[in-house]
Amino acid sequence: MKLWTWTFVVLLIYVSVSVIRFDDFGSGQQMELIPGTAGEEEEEQMGRMKVFVYELPSNFNEDIVQRDPRCLTHMFAAEIYFHRFLLTSQVRTLNPEEADWFYTPVYTTCDLTTEGLPMSYRSPRMIRSAIQLISSNLPYWNKTEGSDHFFLVPHDFAACFHYDEDEAIQRGIHSLLQRATLVQTFGQRNHVCMKEGSIIIPPYVPPNRLQSHLVPQNTPRSIFVYFRGLFYENKNDPQRGHYARGARASLWENFKNNHLFDISPERPITYYEDLQRAVFCLCPLGWAPWSPRLAESLIFGCIPVIIADEIVLPFSDTIPWKEIGIFVAEEDIPKLDTILTSIPPKVIVQKQRLLDNPTIKNTMLFSEIPRPGDAFHQILNGLLRKLPHDKKIYLNPGEKVLDWNAGPEGDKIPWE
Ligand SMILES: *[C@@H]1O[C@H](CO)[C@@H](O)[C@H](O)[C@H]1NC(C)=O
Repeated sequence: MKLWTWTFVVLLIYVSVSVIRFDDFGSGQQMELIPGTAGEEEEEQMGRMKVFVYELPSNFNEDIVQRDPRCLTHMFAAEIYFHRFLLTSQVRTLNPEEADWFYTPVYTTCDLTTEGLPMSYRSPRMIRSAIQLISSNLPYWNKTEGSDHFFLVPHDFAACFHYDEDEAIQRGIHSLLQRATLVQTFGQRNHVCMKEGSIIIPPYVPPNRLQSHLVPQNTPRSIFVYFRGLFYENKNDPQRGHYARGARASLWENFKNNHLFDISPERPITYYEDLQRAVFCLCPLGWAPWSPRLAESLIFGCIPVIIADEIVLPFSDTIPWKEIGIFVAEEDIPKLDTILTSIPPKVIVQKQRLLDNPTIKNTMLFSEIPRPGDAFHQILNGLLRKLPHDKKIYLNPGEKVLDWNAGPEGDKIPWE
């Protein structure tokens, strides 16, 4: 303990010199490149990539937002902002003949309960109706049955469209999305809801909200471990143990009285400020392996402690997650104090330096004014890297692969 106290003092000195340069991230200045991100060559190719945006009736998108504007700040809002981004992006083409990719703007997760929780019961219906429309009005869907189409499906278990993992697994990926590229928040290896080639994105965090909670530069990181969120989910997991596979319960039971751990189910109004005062931010799984904490930690320079076995992280071909974060196996939660206190200060400082890089923060942001390197552009990079399409995706005239009749009858009711 003595040794630890000493280390902590050293750390405080170290970390107080590393500051968040948040102002960098609204300035649109030239970003330095991090390994694996788009280089100039890729930027140039990106200019040549073409995306065709289908026009759908507004009951598939804008009407839903108008009915419930909370969708605009929700963690699933990427589906809305990416659509808006594309409409004015240089990659958009109005000529489908020259398109590399086709995008269908359908907001499947903007269906919130009065408490603001997203439901996905009606998403399969929306998807089916939308595909019905695009495939009957234009010839492009039928040519590949979706292989050159991408969809944003930011819900917990993506195109499985259910928040409960067992139910999601049982449903599987929507039958009509089997060949499409999915752009999703959910990422877990060897999982039914994770298709090979999916593009994993961060959850949406409102950039202006973050900006309004900045603490002064040089604020020391005096909190060792920080976490705010549910430990138990009494409503949907009354018997306990199902939610977060018991990981969050274990966190609470093991460390609720440990003074190094600032953890609580209560989220204070200083939540974002606290993230900027913490050395480690816990990012345990919830219903899904990911949560907005992943993005928030990176943006606020707090080292993410990722506790979610088999997680596939957003933009992992661009962001050096291994170097930035700490990975702890779910079964090792009881040892978390020892694990974190034995990390050498030198390593902590290295991680903080990386986190300090505005280029990395930028990747997590669906910025209000889009700029190179942000989350929108990372999605484009992901799409670009999948080109050119394999010739095998093109079907013979009249050839059908997908099953239009799969799924419950309720899913087949037309969307209106
Ligand atoms: C695409 O195929 C379906 C049959 O699965 C057909 O009903 C539809 O008319 C076709 N679309 C076009 C544009 O030819």
